[in-house]
Amino acid sequence: MQHAIGISSSNMLLNEIRDTFAEVESDIANGPVVPHVTPDEVRSYLTSRYDFRKPVTLEKVIADVQQMLHKWQVHVTHPRYFGLFNPSVTLASVIADTLTAMYNPQLAAWRTSPAANEIERHTLGWLAEKFGYPANAMATFTSGGAEANLSGVITALTRAFPEYGERGLQSLAAAPTFYLSGEAHHSFNKAAHMTGLGRQALRTVATDRDFRMNVADLARRVAEDRKSGLAPFLVVGTAGTTGAGAIDPLADLADFCRREKLWLHVDAAWGGAAAISPALRHHLKGIEAADSITCDAHKWFSVPMGAGMFFCRHADVVAEAFRAETSYMPGKTLGPAADPYTTSVQWSRRFIGLKLFLALAEHGESGYAEMIEHQTRMGEVLREALKDAGWQIVNTSPLPLVCFTRQGLDPAAFLAALHERQIAWMSQVRLGAGEPVLRACVTSFRTTEQDIRQVVSEMSGIVP
Ligand SMILES: Cc1ncc(COP(=O)(O)O)c(C=O)c1O
Repeated sequence: MQHAIGISSSNMLLNEIRDTFAEVESDIANGPVVPHVTPDEVRSYLTSRYDFRKPVTLEKVIADVQQMLHKWQVHVTHPRYFGLFNPSVTLASVIADTLTAMYNPQLAAWRTSPAANEIERHTLGWLAEKFGYPANAMATFTSGGAEANLSGVITALTRAFPEYGERGLQSLAAAPTFYLSGEAHHSFNKAAHMTGLGRQALRTVATDRDFRMNVADLARRVAEDRKSGLAPFLVVGTAGTTGAGAIDPLADLADFCRREKLWLHVDAAWGGAAAISPALRHHLKGIEAADSITCDAHKWFSVPMGAGMFFCRHADVVAEAFRAETSYMPGKTLGPAADPYTTSVQWSRRFIGLKLFLALAEHGESGYAEMIEHQTRMGEVLREALKDAGWQIVNTSPLPLVCFTRQGLDPAAFLAALHERQIAWMSQVRLGAGEPVLRACVTSFRTTEQDIRQVVSEMSGIVP
């Protein structure tokens, strides 16, 4: 079938974006990593130029916005950005976001967007299999990891307490509690707040010296809470903690949860991508037994923001947790496909999954695995280079995240100097009850060994 929009138009789109993308990429790589600007400066710039009374040509606004973005942001796609899991992005994923915006498919109902819905399903099915999930597992793209984690809490509650959905927490005989380590992501504190569990429902389990959850402490806390009349229902294991990149003992957690009839949610927002690497996937052993999983495409899968994923083994529980019936939505889908507005927190849904689909199709599974393994190797180079330069490494992650310090270091002052000199972007973190240390994560597939050696060498110039 021949279309008015054919291959020549696709080529044009590709060529135009490829050229701009290459220009932006080189502009960023050769420019500063960190902006120096105050809120007042940005606000007064905007106020003085944009009162929206008179139209401005699109060319002019685009040029102005590009200039603002260039000057006034931490460049997370810079090869010397060693930050908070925000990736460099592939050309394919940028084109995908443009296509998504142009066609603006509405994914809430299957009938409205059969192509988009099935592309997402196909992509998620591929990753679900990598996690060792069965073909009938349920998966959905989310706005990010926080939404996916919230979905994990909601589904776990729905299964443990069938009356929760209709009659609320107040109808329960015992107060529900859930368990995570002190290194778990703080989106769970918000989830506890939003679901009505209350933040005190969170139980912080001790960690070992590698910042991994201590299963004996977990067992002790669950037993104690049960004895006190509380109702434990969920354990959260993290695969790649935000602070230290630690991977909780997932297989042990899975055994424990099976024995104790608790839901296991694995937050693999960043580390989940390791599942596609033959060299790294063994670090996630046990994830296949999780009841639900969070994994973000907009972290280690290197696609633009707004792409989380939620996987759940129990399609029936997801359907119950997010059920909705209205007269105004298109009628129920025929056949096996579910309408996404009935299987997730979202209603109207953007075509989030296209960026992962397009990038995966272009690079292939092995290309993607190579991107991930390259960054892991760069993490090792960084770890070794820091040690050689006299830094003390304080974490042991197999993933490319290094936490480090040295005698007499004032992390805040060090980072201020690092950023002021545009050497790199790094951050500080407090692990366990320790003092703040420096944290550097390789998040860009563009970071080279030379970038790392240069950064570590320049860092030596600002140490106490
Ligand atoms: C381990 C972990 N889980 C969840 C999240 C939240 O993900 P998002 O920012 O995509 O909502 C993060 C964010 O960095 C994270 O590190």
